[in-house]
Amino acid sequence: MPEPRTTRPKKSASRKSSKTPAEPAPPPPQRQRRSLTQRGGAITVRGDQALSAILSKALTASSQEPLDDLTHGFHTYPARMHPEIASVLVAELSQPGESVLDPFVGSGTVLIEALAQGRRGVGVDLNPLALRIAHVRCQLRDRAARSRFLRTLSAVATASEDSVRSRAVVKVPVERSERAFYDPHVLLELSGLWGEIGHVTEPLDRNALEVVFSSLLVKFSRQRGDTTEELIDKRIRKGLVTEFFERKGQELAQRWEALYESAPRDATAVKLVAGDARRLADLAPKGYSADLVLTSPPYGGTYDYLSHHARRYAWLSLNDEPLRTHEIGARRNMSQVTGALGRWDRELSSALLAMASVLAKHGQVVLWMGDADIGGTRVAADEQVERLAAKVGLRVLAAAAQARPDFRRPEPRREHLLLLGHSR
Ligand SMILES: C[S@@+](CC[C@H](N)C(=O)[O-])C[C@H]1O[C@@H](n2cnc3c(N)ncnc32)[C@H](O)[C@@H]1O
Repeated sequence: MPEPRTTRPKKSASRKSSKTPAEPAPPPPQRQRRSLTQRGGAITVRGDQALSAILSKALTASSQEPLDDLTHGFHTYPARMHPEIASVLVAELSQPGESVLDPFVGSGTVLIEALAQGRRGVGVDLNPLALRIAHVRCQLRDRAARSRFLRTLSAVATASEDSVRSRAVVKVPVERSERAFYDPHVLLELSGLWGEIGHVTEPLDRNALEVVFSSLLVKFSRQRGDTTEELIDKRIRKGLVTEFFERKGQELAQRWEALYESAPRDATAVKLVAGDARRLADLAPKGYSADLVLTSPPYGGTYDYLSHHARRYAWLSLNDEPLRTHEIGARRNMSQVTGALGRWDRELSSALLAMASVLAKHGQVVLWMGDADIGGTRVAADEQVERLAAKVGLRVLAAAAQARPDFRRPEPRREHLLLLGHSR
Protein backbone atom coordinates (compact mmCIF):
# COMPACT_ATOMS: atom_id res chain seq x y z
CA MET A 1 0.00 0.00 0.00
CA PRO A 2 1.46 3.43 -0.90
CA GLU A 3 2.62 5.53 2.03
CA PRO A 4 -0.24 7.91 2.92
CA ARG A 5 0.81 11.56 2.58
CA THR A 6 -1.23 13.41 5.12
CA THR A 7 0.75 16.54 5.93
CA ARG A 8 -0.33 19.78 4.35
CA PRO A 9 2.55 21.08 2.22
CA LYS A 10 3.93 24.55 2.94
CA LYS A 11 2.95 27.14 0.35
CA SER A 12 5.80 28.51 -1.73
CA ALA A 13 6.31 32.29 -1.78
CA SER A 14 3.41 34.01 -3.50
CA ARG A 15 3.84 36.96 -5.85
CA LYS A 16 2.37 39.31 -3.25
CA SER A 17 4.99 38.47 -0.66
CA SER A 18 7.75 38.84 -3.27
CA LYS A 19 7.06 42.54 -3.66
CA THR A 20 8.09 43.50 -0.10
CA PRO A 21 10.93 41.19 0.82
CA ALA A 22 12.09 43.32 3.77
CA GLU A 23 8.70 43.40 5.45
CA PRO A 24 6.79 40.51 6.95
CA ALA A 25 4.50 39.11 4.25
CA PRO A 26 0.87 40.11 4.73
CA PRO A 27 -1.36 37.20 5.66
CA PRO A 28 -2.78 35.55 2.54
CA PRO A 29 -6.33 36.62 1.74
CA GLN A 30 -8.68 34.44 3.77
CA ARG A 31 -10.75 32.08 1.71
CA GLN A 32 -13.69 32.33 4.09
CA ARG A 33 -16.77 30.21 3.92
CA ARG A 34 -20.00 29.86 5.80
CA SER A 35 -21.51 26.50 6.58
CA LEU A 36 -24.56 25.60 4.59
CA THR A 37 -27.12 23.88 6.73
CA GLN A 38 -28.41 21.43 4.12
CA ARG A 39 -25.95 20.68 1.30
CA GLY A 40 -25.79 16.92 1.71
CA GLY A 41 -26.40 13.99 4.00
CA ALA A 42 -24.04 12.36 6.49
CA ILE A 43 -20.57 11.49 5.22
CA THR A 44 -19.62 7.80 5.35
CA VAL A 45 -16.00 6.69 5.03
CA ARG A 46 -14.11 3.43 4.66
CA GLY A 47 -10.58 2.15 4.02
CA ASP A 48 -7.27 3.58 5.21
CA GLN A 49 -7.98 5.84 8.18
CA ALA A 50 -5.62 8.70 7.38
CA LEU A 51 -6.60 8.79 3.71
CA SER A 52 -10.33 8.56 4.34
CA ALA A 53 -9.99 11.42 6.85
CA ILE A 54 -8.57 13.55 4.01
CA LEU A 55 -11.45 12.59 1.72
CA SER A 56 -13.93 13.38 4.46
CA LYS A 57 -12.26 16.75 5.03
CA ALA A 58 -12.64 17.55 1.32
CA LEU A 59 -16.32 16.57 1.32
CA THR A 60 -16.97 18.58 4.47
CA ALA A 61 -15.29 21.63 2.93
CA SER A 62 -17.46 21.28 -0.18
CA SER A 63 -20.62 21.21 1.96
CA GLN A 64 -19.93 24.81 2.89
CA GLU A 65 -20.59 28.01 1.02
CA PRO A 66 -18.83 27.62 -2.37
CA LEU A 67 -15.26 28.87 -2.51
CA ASP A 68 -15.65 30.61 -5.85
CA ASP A 69 -12.53 32.70 -5.55
CA LEU A 70 -9.54 32.83 -7.94
CA THR A 71 -10.88 32.17 -11.44
CA HIS A 72 -13.16 29.33 -10.27
CA GLY A 73 -16.54 31.00 -10.59
CA PHE A 74 -15.98 32.34 -14.10
CA HIS A 75 -18.20 30.66 -16.76
CA THR A 76 -20.71 27.95 -15.84
CA TYR A 77 -19.82 24.33 -16.55
CA PRO A 78 -22.10 21.34 -15.93
CA ALA A 79 -20.84 19.08 -13.12
CA ARG A 80 -17.95 21.38 -12.32
CA MET A 81 -15.88 19.98 -9.46
CA HIS A 82 -16.34 21.79 -6.14
CA PRO A 83 -13.28 24.06 -5.84
CA GLU A 84 -13.04 23.09 -2.14
CA ILE A 85 -12.55 19.44 -3.07
CA ALA A 86 -9.78 20.32 -5.52
CA SER A 87 -8.18 22.72 -3.05
CA VAL A 88 -8.06 20.29 -0.12
CA LEU A 89 -6.95 17.29 -2.16
CA VAL A 90 -4.20 19.07 -4.10
CA ALA A 91 -2.85 20.41 -0.80
CA GLU A 92 -3.08 17.13 1.10
CA LEU A 93 -2.08 14.62 -1.55
CA SER A 94 0.67 16.36 -3.51
CA GLN A 95 3.76 18.43 -2.86
CA PRO A 96 4.85 21.69 -4.53
CA GLY A 97 6.52 20.95 -7.86
CA GLU A 98 4.79 17.58 -8.29
CA SER A 99 2.64 16.75 -11.29
CA VAL A 100 -1.15 16.79 -11.00
CA LEU A 101 -3.15 15.38 -13.89
CA ASP A 102 -6.86 15.86 -14.61
CA PRO A 103 -7.81 13.68 -17.61
CA PHE A 104 -11.42 15.04 -17.61
CA VAL A 105 -10.37 18.61 -17.00
CA GLY A 106 -13.62 20.35 -18.02
CA SER A 107 -13.44 24.00 -17.04
CA GLY A 108 -10.14 23.51 -15.19
CA THR A 109 -11.02 23.53 -11.48
CA VAL A 110 -8.22 21.11 -10.54
CA LEU A 111 -5.65 22.98 -12.63
CA ILE A 112 -6.48 26.33 -11.04
CA GLU A 113 -5.71 24.80 -7.65
CA ALA A 114 -2.59 23.10 -9.00
CA LEU A 115 -1.39 26.46 -10.32
CA ALA A 116 -2.24 28.37 -7.14
CA GLN A 117 -0.48 25.77 -5.03
CA GLY A 118 2.66 25.47 -7.16
CA ARG A 119 2.07 22.06 -8.75
CA ARG A 120 2.63 21.20 -12.40
CA GLY A 121 -0.87 20.82 -13.80
CA VAL A 122 -1.83 18.90 -16.92
CA GLY A 123 -5.40 18.65 -18.21
CA VAL A 124 -6.99 16.58 -20.96
CA ASP A 125 -10.49 16.87 -22.41
CA LEU A 126 -12.26 15.98 -25.62
CA ASN A 127 -14.39 19.06 -25.51
CA PRO A 128 -12.82 22.08 -27.26
CA LEU A 129 -15.04 24.43 -25.24
CA ALA A 130 -13.74 22.95 -21.97
CA LEU A 131 -10.17 23.54 -23.12
CA ARG A 132 -10.94 27.14 -24.12
CA ILE A 133 -12.49 27.89 -20.72
CA ALA A 134 -9.73 26.13 -18.78
CA HIS A 135 -7.08 27.96 -20.81
CA VAL A 136 -8.60 31.34 -19.96
CA ARG A 137 -9.14 30.48 -16.30
CA CYS A 138 -5.56 29.28 -15.85
CA GLN A 139 -3.78 32.36 -17.18
CA LEU A 140 -1.26 34.13 -14.97
CA ARG A 141 -1.70 37.68 -16.24
CA ASP A 142 0.36 40.50 -14.78
CA ARG A 143 -1.05 43.98 -14.27
CA ALA A 144 -0.02 45.19 -17.75
CA ALA A 145 -1.68 42.23 -19.48
CA ARG A 146 -4.85 42.70 -17.42
CA SER A 147 -4.99 46.43 -18.22
CA ARG A 148 -4.53 45.76 -21.93
CA PHE A 149 -7.39 43.25 -21.78
CA LEU A 150 -9.66 45.75 -20.00
CA ARG A 151 -8.95 48.44 -22.59
CA THR A 152 -9.77 46.00 -25.40
CA LEU A 153 -12.93 44.85 -23.61
CA SER A 154 -14.17 48.39 -23.30
CA ALA A 155 -13.32 49.22 -26.93
CA VAL A 156 -15.21 46.13 -28.16
CA ALA A 157 -18.29 46.96 -26.06
CA THR A 158 -18.34 50.61 -27.20
CA ALA A 159 -17.84 49.82 -30.88
CA SER A 160 -20.55 47.17 -30.78
CA GLU A 161 -22.97 49.49 -29.01
CA ASP A 162 -22.33 52.19 -31.61
CA SER A 163 -22.94 49.89 -34.54
CA VAL A 164 -26.14 48.48 -33.01
CA ARG A 165 -27.41 51.99 -32.15
CA SER A 166 -26.66 53.37 -35.60
CA ARG A 167 -28.53 50.41 -37.06
CA ALA A 168 -25.51 49.51 -39.15
CA VAL A 169 -25.93 46.19 -40.92
CA VAL A 170 -24.66 43.61 -38.46
CA LYS A 171 -23.86 40.14 -39.75
CA VAL A 172 -25.51 37.39 -37.71
CA PRO A 173 -22.93 34.60 -37.74
CA VAL A 174 -25.18 31.64 -36.83
CA GLU A 175 -27.66 29.49 -38.76
CA ARG A 176 -31.37 30.27 -38.79
CA SER A 177 -32.14 27.32 -36.47
CA GLU A 178 -29.78 28.79 -33.87
CA ARG A 179 -31.18 32.31 -34.18
CA ALA A 180 -34.53 31.03 -32.93
CA PHE A 181 -33.04 30.74 -29.43
CA TYR A 182 -32.76 34.53 -29.05
CA ASP A 183 -35.02 37.58 -29.07
CA PRO A 184 -34.22 39.74 -32.14
CA HIS A 185 -32.65 42.61 -30.15
CA VAL A 186 -30.51 40.14 -28.16
CA LEU A 187 -29.36 38.50 -31.38
CA LEU A 188 -28.39 41.89 -32.74
CA GLU A 189 -26.33 42.80 -29.68
CA LEU A 190 -24.65 39.41 -29.61
CA SER A 191 -23.82 39.67 -33.31
CA GLY A 192 -22.41 43.17 -32.82
CA LEU A 193 -20.16 41.98 -30.01
CA TRP A 194 -19.07 38.91 -31.92
CA GLY A 195 -18.18 41.01 -34.97
CA GLU A 196 -16.06 43.39 -32.87
CA ILE A 197 -14.29 40.55 -31.04
CA GLY A 198 -13.33 39.22 -34.47
CA HIS A 199 -11.35 42.44 -35.09
CA VAL A 200 -9.15 41.98 -32.00
CA THR A 201 -5.69 41.05 -33.21
CA GLU A 202 -3.99 40.02 -29.95
CA PRO A 203 -4.74 36.25 -29.83
CA LEU A 204 -4.82 35.80 -26.02
CA ASP A 205 -7.19 38.73 -25.59
CA ARG A 206 -9.39 37.65 -28.47
CA ASN A 207 -9.60 34.13 -27.04
CA ALA A 208 -10.46 35.48 -23.58
CA LEU A 209 -13.14 37.77 -25.02
CA GLU A 210 -14.66 34.84 -26.91
CA VAL A 211 -14.90 32.94 -23.63
CA VAL A 212 -16.45 35.97 -21.91
CA PHE A 213 -18.94 36.06 -24.79
CA SER A 214 -19.58 32.33 -24.39
CA SER A 215 -20.43 32.88 -20.71
CA LEU A 216 -23.43 35.02 -21.81
CA LEU A 217 -24.97 32.74 -24.39
CA VAL A 218 -27.29 30.51 -22.38
CA LYS A 219 -28.19 33.30 -19.96
CA PHE A 220 -29.46 35.50 -22.80
CA SER A 221 -31.01 32.73 -24.90
CA ARG A 222 -34.50 31.31 -24.42
CA GLN A 223 -32.95 28.16 -22.94
CA ARG A 224 -33.68 27.92 -19.21
CA GLY A 225 -30.22 26.66 -18.24
CA ASP A 226 -27.11 24.79 -19.36
CA THR A 227 -28.41 21.30 -18.57
CA THR A 228 -31.97 21.64 -19.86
CA GLU A 229 -33.43 22.20 -23.30
CA GLU A 230 -36.60 23.72 -21.84
CA LEU A 231 -37.38 27.10 -23.44
CA ILE A 232 -38.79 29.97 -21.43
CA ASP A 233 -39.56 33.66 -21.95
CA LYS A 234 -36.93 35.95 -20.52
CA ARG A 235 -37.52 39.69 -20.52
CA ILE A 236 -34.20 41.17 -21.50
CA ARG A 237 -33.99 44.91 -21.88
CA LYS A 238 -32.04 46.54 -24.70
CA GLY A 239 -28.40 47.13 -23.86
CA LEU A 240 -28.25 44.51 -21.10
CA VAL A 241 -26.23 42.00 -23.14
CA THR A 242 -23.47 44.52 -23.78
CA GLU A 243 -23.48 45.73 -20.18
CA PHE A 244 -23.22 42.18 -18.97
CA PHE A 245 -20.41 41.40 -21.41
CA GLU A 246 -18.41 44.27 -20.00
CA ARG A 247 -19.16 43.30 -16.40
CA LYS A 248 -18.15 39.68 -16.99
CA GLY A 249 -14.91 40.80 -18.61
CA GLN A 250 -14.13 43.06 -15.64
CA GLU A 251 -14.93 40.20 -13.27
CA LEU A 252 -12.52 37.98 -15.19
CA ALA A 253 -9.74 40.56 -14.86
CA GLN A 254 -10.31 40.72 -11.08
CA ARG A 255 -10.24 36.95 -10.84
CA TRP A 256 -7.00 36.84 -12.85
CA GLU A 257 -5.51 39.27 -10.36
CA ALA A 258 -6.47 37.00 -7.44
CA LEU A 259 -4.94 33.99 -9.17
CA TYR A 260 -1.80 35.90 -10.12
CA GLU A 261 -1.32 37.07 -6.54
CA SER A 262 -1.91 33.59 -5.07
CA ALA A 263 0.33 31.58 -7.35
CA PRO A 264 3.99 31.15 -6.41
CA ARG A 265 6.50 33.29 -8.30
CA ASP A 266 7.93 30.25 -10.06
CA ALA A 267 4.55 28.69 -10.94
CA THR A 268 4.64 26.45 -14.02
CA ALA A 269 2.02 27.23 -16.66
CA VAL A 270 -0.57 24.47 -16.98
CA LYS A 271 -0.61 22.23 -20.05
CA LEU A 272 -3.88 21.49 -21.80
CA VAL A 273 -4.22 18.64 -24.26
CA ALA A 274 -7.14 17.89 -26.58
CA GLY A 275 -7.89 14.19 -26.65
CA ASP A 276 -9.56 11.11 -25.29
CA ALA A 277 -8.82 10.37 -21.63
CA ARG A 278 -8.74 6.69 -22.53
CA ARG A 279 -5.56 7.30 -24.53
CA LEU A 280 -3.44 9.12 -21.97
CA ALA A 281 -0.29 7.14 -22.70
CA ASP A 282 -0.43 8.32 -26.36
CA LEU A 283 -1.16 11.93 -25.41
CA ALA A 284 1.47 12.35 -22.71
CA PRO A 285 5.05 13.26 -23.55
CA LYS A 286 7.54 10.37 -23.31
CA GLY A 287 8.46 9.58 -19.71
CA TYR A 288 5.58 11.59 -18.19
CA SER A 289 4.15 10.29 -14.95
CA ALA A 290 1.56 11.84 -12.66
CA ASP A 291 2.09 12.05 -8.90
CA LEU A 292 -1.59 12.74 -8.41
CA VAL A 293 -4.48 12.10 -10.78
CA LEU A 294 -7.40 14.13 -9.50
CA THR A 295 -10.45 14.07 -11.71
CA SER A 296 -14.19 13.98 -12.07
CA PRO A 297 -15.16 11.63 -14.90
CA PRO A 298 -18.65 12.06 -16.34
CA TYR A 299 -21.43 10.65 -14.15
CA GLY A 300 -22.75 7.73 -16.23
CA GLY A 301 -25.99 8.50 -18.10
CA THR A 302 -26.43 11.91 -16.47
CA TYR A 303 -24.92 14.66 -18.61
CA ASP A 304 -24.69 15.21 -22.33
CA TYR A 305 -21.97 17.74 -23.01
CA LEU A 306 -22.77 17.75 -26.70
CA SER A 307 -26.25 19.16 -26.09
CA HIS A 308 -25.32 21.21 -22.99
CA HIS A 309 -22.88 23.20 -25.11
CA ALA A 310 -24.85 23.41 -28.35
CA ARG A 311 -25.43 27.22 -28.10
CA ARG A 312 -21.74 27.83 -27.53
CA TYR A 313 -20.50 25.43 -30.19
CA ALA A 314 -22.62 27.25 -32.78
CA TRP A 315 -21.29 30.75 -32.04
CA LEU A 316 -17.68 29.78 -31.45
CA SER A 317 -17.67 27.46 -34.53
CA LEU A 318 -16.23 24.63 -32.47
CA ASN A 319 -15.83 21.14 -33.85
CA ASP A 320 -18.27 18.84 -32.04
CA GLU A 321 -17.02 15.67 -33.73
CA PRO A 322 -14.73 14.49 -30.86
CA LEU A 323 -17.53 14.77 -28.31
CA ARG A 324 -20.13 13.29 -30.65
CA THR A 325 -18.04 10.20 -31.21
CA HIS A 326 -15.99 9.73 -28.04
CA GLU A 327 -17.81 11.30 -25.07
CA ILE A 328 -18.04 8.67 -22.33
CA GLY A 329 -21.04 8.19 -20.04
CA ALA A 330 -23.19 10.43 -22.25
CA ARG A 331 -26.90 10.43 -21.39
CA ARG A 332 -27.82 10.09 -25.09
CA ASN A 333 -26.12 6.66 -25.14
CA MET A 334 -27.46 5.38 -21.82
CA SER A 335 -31.20 5.76 -21.90
CA GLN A 336 -31.83 1.99 -22.22
CA VAL A 337 -30.51 -0.40 -19.57
CA THR A 338 -29.85 -3.14 -22.11
CA GLY A 339 -26.36 -2.73 -23.48
CA ALA A 340 -25.73 0.54 -21.67
CA LEU A 341 -24.58 -1.01 -18.40
CA GLY A 342 -21.90 -2.97 -20.22
CA ARG A 343 -20.97 0.06 -22.30
CA TRP A 344 -20.53 2.26 -19.22
CA ASP A 345 -18.38 -0.46 -17.61
CA ARG A 346 -16.15 -0.64 -20.68
CA GLU A 347 -15.82 3.15 -20.98
CA LEU A 348 -14.91 3.64 -17.35
CA SER A 349 -12.62 0.65 -17.30
CA SER A 350 -10.59 2.02 -20.26
CA ALA A 351 -10.32 5.38 -18.52
CA LEU A 352 -9.04 3.71 -15.32
CA LEU A 353 -6.55 1.66 -17.30
CA ALA A 354 -5.25 4.82 -18.98
CA MET A 355 -4.86 6.56 -15.59
CA ALA A 356 -2.95 3.56 -14.23
CA SER A 357 -0.63 3.67 -17.26
CA VAL A 358 0.62 7.20 -16.47
CA LEU A 359 0.46 7.05 -12.66
CA ALA A 360 3.81 7.25 -10.84
CA LYS A 361 4.66 4.18 -8.74
CA HIS A 362 3.88 5.98 -5.49
CA GLY A 363 1.07 8.02 -7.09
CA GLN A 364 -2.58 8.23 -6.17
CA VAL A 365 -5.76 8.60 -8.20
CA VAL A 366 -8.74 10.39 -6.70
CA LEU A 367 -12.07 10.22 -8.50
CA TRP A 368 -15.04 12.44 -7.71
CA MET A 369 -18.06 10.57 -9.08
CA GLY A 370 -21.80 10.37 -8.67
CA ASP A 371 -23.80 7.17 -8.98
CA ALA A 372 -24.71 6.51 -12.61
CA ASP A 373 -28.24 6.68 -13.96
CA ILE A 374 -28.55 4.03 -16.65
CA GLY A 375 -32.04 3.85 -18.16
CA GLY A 376 -33.51 4.88 -14.80
CA THR A 377 -31.39 2.37 -12.83
CA ARG A 378 -28.91 3.73 -10.33
CA VAL A 379 -25.45 2.16 -10.48
CA ALA A 380 -23.35 2.69 -7.35
CA ALA A 381 -20.14 4.38 -8.51
CA ASP A 382 -18.05 3.09 -5.59
CA GLU A 383 -18.98 -0.56 -6.23
CA GLN A 384 -18.41 -0.18 -9.95
CA VAL A 385 -14.99 1.46 -9.56
CA GLU A 386 -13.90 -1.12 -6.99
CA ARG A 387 -14.85 -3.95 -9.34
CA LEU A 388 -13.22 -2.40 -12.43
CA ALA A 389 -10.08 -1.16 -10.68
CA ALA A 390 -9.08 -4.70 -9.76
CA LYS A 391 -8.94 -5.59 -13.47
CA VAL A 392 -6.61 -2.73 -14.40
CA GLY A 393 -4.03 -3.02 -11.60
CA LEU A 394 -5.52 -0.41 -9.29
CA ARG A 395 -7.03 -0.75 -5.84
CA VAL A 396 -9.39 1.46 -3.83
CA LEU A 397 -7.52 2.47 -0.67
CA ALA A 398 -10.09 4.81 0.84
CA ALA A 399 -13.55 6.11 0.06
CA ALA A 400 -15.95 8.73 1.33
CA ALA A 401 -19.54 9.27 0.21
CA GLN A 402 -22.40 11.63 0.77
CA ALA A 403 -25.97 11.82 -0.56
CA ARG A 404 -26.57 15.11 -2.40
CA PRO A 405 -29.53 16.63 -4.22
CA ASP A 406 -29.95 15.35 -7.78
CA PHE A 407 -30.95 17.90 -10.43
CA ARG A 408 -32.83 15.23 -12.43
CA ARG A 409 -34.74 13.32 -9.77
CA PRO A 410 -36.49 14.02 -6.46
CA GLU A 411 -34.42 11.48 -4.52
CA PRO A 412 -30.78 12.34 -3.71
CA ARG A 413 -27.82 10.72 -5.45
CA ARG A 414 -24.71 9.43 -3.68
CA GLU A 415 -21.50 11.17 -4.65
CA HIS A 416 -18.15 9.63 -3.88
CA LEU A 417 -14.51 10.46 -3.42
CA LEU A 418 -12.54 7.32 -4.24
CA LEU A 419 -8.80 7.15 -3.65
CA LEU A 420 -6.87 4.50 -5.55
CA GLY A 421 -3.27 3.36 -5.79
CA HIS A 422 -1.44 0.72 -7.81
CA SER A 423 -2.20 -2.77 -6.54
CA ARG A 424 0.96 -4.78 -5.95
C1 LIG B 1 -17.67 16.05 -14.87
S1 LIG B 1 -16.96 16.93 -16.20
C2 LIG B 1 -15.45 17.53 -15.53
C3 LIG B 1 -15.67 18.84 -14.84
C4 LIG B 1 -14.40 19.45 -14.31
N1 LIG B 1 -13.87 18.69 -13.21
C5 LIG B 1 -14.62 20.90 -13.91
O1 LIG B 1 -14.44 21.24 -12.73
O2 LIG B 1 -15.06 21.69 -14.75
C6 LIG B 1 -16.47 15.62 -17.26
C7 LIG B 1 -15.68 16.04 -18.49
O3 LIG B 1 -15.34 14.87 -19.21
C8 LIG B 1 -15.21 15.24 -20.58
N2 LIG B 1 -15.18 13.98 -21.36
C9 LIG B 1 -16.18 13.14 -21.66
N3 LIG B 1 -15.70 12.07 -22.33
C10 LIG B 1 -14.35 12.24 -22.44
C11 LIG B 1 -13.30 11.48 -23.00
N4 LIG B 1 -13.52 10.31 -23.60
N5 LIG B 1 -12.04 11.96 -22.93
C12 LIG B 1 -11.77 13.16 -22.33
N6 LIG B 1 -12.75 13.94 -21.79
C13 LIG B 1 -14.02 13.48 -21.84
C14 LIG B 1 -16.38 16.16 -20.82
O4 LIG B 1 -16.16 17.01 -21.93
C15 LIG B 1 -16.39 16.94 -19.48
O5 LIG B 1 -15.66 18.13 -19.62
